[in-house]
Amino acid sequence: MNLADLQSFKKKGEKITCLTAYDASFAKLFDACGVDVILVGDSLGNVIQGGENTLGVSMEDMLYHTQAVVKGIKEALLIADMPYQSYTHAEKTLENAQRLMSVGAQMVKFEGGAEHEASFKILQANNIPVCGHLGLQPQSVIEMGGYKVQGRDDSSAQRILADAKFLESWGVETLVLECVPAELAKKVSQSINIPTIGIGAGVDCDGQVLVSYDMLGINTGYLPKFVKNFLSEHSSIESAVKGYIYSVKSQTFPNDEYSY
Ligand code: KIV
Repeated sequence: MNLADLQSFKKKGEKITCLTAYDASFAKLFDACGVDVILVGDSLGNVIQGGENTLGVSMEDMLYHTQAVVKGIKEALLIADMPYQSYTHAEKTLENAQRLMSVGAQMVKFEGGAEHEASFKILQANNIPVCGHLGLQPQSVIEMGGYKVQGRDDSSAQRILADAKFLESWGVETLVLECVPAELAKKVSQSINIPTIGIGAGVDCDGQVLVSYDMLGINTGYLPKFVKNFLSEHSSIESAVKGYIYSVKSQTFPNDEYSY
């Protein structure tokens, strides 16, 4: 998988599959099953480190896990999250993104919209592919007042749509949409030419991502409505992951039960 493949998936209407991984063994298994994109998410703060949120994840943590994941991958595209406070100004963003790329990330992801214009632009100027992240932004969980669906009212929906267009114009390659109403995610996906990857954003995004520990039932804490445990209807991790891929590609996941 490369950046051009992501674009061509959107053009031909094939859904992109993405799962998070934090170590080489899971990455190898997901890659062998045919997952298109593997994300080293800062959700590792929750599922690996046991934190209440992702704010405690450091650059060193992200580098450590990215280095491990890259060893398991042969085919999938590897995206690494930029952790909390690692992209507060443009020069810092560039330095930290370069560190993630130097250990094997092929794209970096960070949360937020127009407020990060300088960071998006400096990465584009330095040819570092970026994945945006709009809607629910877990690193802003305190400001957002909890893990709540975003874009339900007209003004916040307009802001998400406007941010998506800004990000596209600043050269962002792909966009995660988290926890937004399915209708809004559909509108955003149709309004931009870059692929959207949804999590709790309905079936009309150009791809889907889930936290692997959630969709394998390893995380037994609070699970949002959009999480489906694929292992509960399969007899092995491998068949659960293949079931997830099949459901995303055939657009049977996420149905209304898993959408807002
Ligand atoms: O950190 C993560 O796992 C993520 C996904 C929820 C998209 O950002």
